[in-house]
Amino acid sequence: MSTVVAIDGPAGAGKSTVARLLADRMGYAYVNTGSLYRALAWSAKRAGIDPGALTAEFLAQQQLEFKGADLYLNGNLTGAELRAPDIAQGASLISKQKLVRDHLLPVQRNAAKNCWIVMEGRDIGTVIFPDAKCKFFVTATPEERARRRMAQSGEVASNADFEAILAEIKERDERDSTREIAPLKPADDSVIVDTTGLSIDEVVEKLAALCTAAR
Ligand code: DC
Repeated sequence: MSTVVAIDGPAGAGKSTVARLLADRMGYAYVNTGSLYRALAWSAKRAGIDPGALTAEFLAQQQLEFKGADLYLNGNLTGAELRAPDIAQGASLISKQKLVRDHLLPVQRNAAKNCWIVMEGRDIGTVIFPDAKCKFFVTATPEERARRRMAQSGEVASNADFEAILAEIKERDERDSTREIAPLKPADDSVIVDTTGLSIDEVVEKLAALCTAAR
């Protein structure tokens, strides 16, 4: 038996912070599925492979597994190397490919086996767990997300300016929401949570109340 709380939404909307705190608050496990796409981007970069054209041979050599919230790639724990800006862009390119999404689907479903879990991503409520008990689409204006991103050290190049980050966010949103396979969009039955101007605590409070009511 498993119970999934799906949290989808664009980059920089506060999704990860909210998802992690919600999981703690509810006593649920937590998984960030963006790490899967980032791990493949990192591995492709290391192998000198174009992230926009991964092959079945390459994917067959990428064994990904969550142990709790930790992601292992071919037996090695992944970490801060996945947060680099070029890896984020590579992950977005990678995520357009059906081959990739098919490869990652069972990894995500396995992560939720026999547990209560908050799973964060782009297509959790639409594709990975369409029957999820609770679905949230966490979003904020692009400007608010650019401001938050600038405040997060390590997520942007040290010399990046606001306009450049805003342009990068808009470009990634456009690519993620217009791709043919599993585009970024709210599930019909998801609750849309706009975090612009809200504190993290207010958002977590609201989501926890909805999760508790659905239990
Ligand atoms: O959440 P993130 O920034 O770590 O995600 C990196 C990229 O991976 C993002 O541009 C879109 C993609 N992604 C996806 O397509 N589906 C998911 N469930 C999670 C992430």
